[in-house]
Amino acid sequence: MSKKILVVGNGAREHAICKAILRSPQDAEVVTISTANNPGILDLAKEVYVVDSLLDFDFLKEVAQKEQPDFAIIGPDDPIAMGASDALLELGIKSVAPTKSLARLESSKSFTRNLLDKYEIRANPDFRVFTSEEGMMEYAESLGKIVVKYDGLAGGKGVKVQDDHFKTIEEGVRYAKECLRELGVVVIEEKLEGQEFSAMFFADGVSLKKMPIIQDNKRAFEDDKGENTGGMGTVSDVSGSLPFLTEQDTKEAEDITFKVMQALEKECGERFKGIMYGGFIATKNGVRLIEYNARFGDPEAMNALCLLEGDFVEICEAVINEGLDKIEVGFEEKATVCKYIVPEGYPENPVKNKAVEIDYDRIPAGIEIHFASVDEQEGVLYLKGSRAIAFVAKADDIYMAEKMAEEACSSVKGAVFHRTDIGTRTLIEKKIKHMKCLRA
Ligand code: AMP
Ligand code: GLY
Repeated sequence: MSKKILVVGNGAREHAICKAILRSPQDAEVVTISTANNPGILDLAKEVYVVDSLLDFDFLKEVAQKEQPDFAIIGPDDPIAMGASDALLELGIKSVAPTKSLARLESSKSFTRNLLDKYEIRANPDFRVFTSEEGMMEYAESLGKIVVKYDGLAGGKGVKVQDDHFKTIEEGVRYAKECLRELGVVVIEEKLEGQEFSAMFFADGVSLKKMPIIQDNKRAFEDDKGENTGGMGTVSDVSGSLPFLTEQDTKEAEDITFKVMQALEKECGERFKGIMYGGFIATKNGVRLIEYNARFGDPEAMNALCLLEGDFVEICEAVINEGLDKIEVGFEEKATVCKYIVPEGYPENPVKNKAVEIDYDRIPAGIEIHFASVDEQEGVLYLKGSRAIAFVAKADDIYMAEKMAEEACSSVKGAVFHRTDIGTRTLIEKKIKHMKCLRA
């Protein structure tokens, strides 16, 4: 009998998830809940339910009641953090996504920092959670350079990093006080130096299966300049690691994540079933945790899922039923480069509702296209204001994949831009040199 999977979300990540489901050798179909007409998902899904907000859990439950899916995959952070998985469990439907309590791993910076400390998992930078202004300035001054973390859900004030977002400790502390006034809590931590990397794992609460290590390029412009974005593009290498990381770095990321999964069960009294995505930084003193996410990364999902060998539906079922230790989860030994096409002005002042055209003849063979913040109306694609189209290239090395992804990007005409430097030899060698200097 055909399996039915409910996918919540309508970005490029969810487009990649739909593709992975339909590549399964099992007879599987997809129904989705979306907030726009994503043409990629429209092509693949048996039914697309469009709603104003993915936080409308009454609508979610109505669709789930009607469709009776075998399980759900919830893509974005906000519905997971607000309890979409719990809402579906009320109907007896399990999700590849943690419950609201476990999702604090992503939604609360202080929860995760405190969890690591409590269970003696040594991956935190020097940090302190403040619930009053007392001692704030003295502590910040003792750290050298600081990072200030708003302790609420995404879409809030966010993380501010010294030198990038503010210059002096005084300015940083002023921002911390603003966050404190708004939420009653703020995290101040030491600024770490090194190379960041994304380590994603399928987690069933008992076992983990790792995905290839990926690096996202979050800054809007070439050479890592400009505002932080959702991620402008991602790179993975043939080895499953990255040229500037050591074997010890990737092993540490896995060990930390395994201990965190166990700590979560002790702390929350339930098991984490979903994706654990650690944002780590390799420093001269080893690996440290920047943050955890409780979902696939976007764009990281595109790199990982296009390399996945085997049956994604089977893996999801193993996540839900604690069977990961009984299955093989393999990835092709290829490099990938993903580049996002974004609207002019993104992220601060993006153009919206402008038409874009794709010349499909200019896209090299083997490129995967994923649609994100675009809406299709009468056959025309319109930019919605956020990251629009992601091209993923797979090749025998990063630089070949980069050239293919670049060629694919040139197929898009309209008020858009992308980062031409992601995955180039110049940028990768700069990162290798950076880590060599730090470790020397
Ligand atoms: P987060 O939302 O925690 O991922 O933070 C967003 C970005 O801020 C990260 O991708 C890092 O580039 C930066 N960041 C966060 N925490 C630190 C830290 N302790 N040291 C240096 N950079 C950081
Ligand atoms: N690639 C960053 C994120 O998914 O949060």
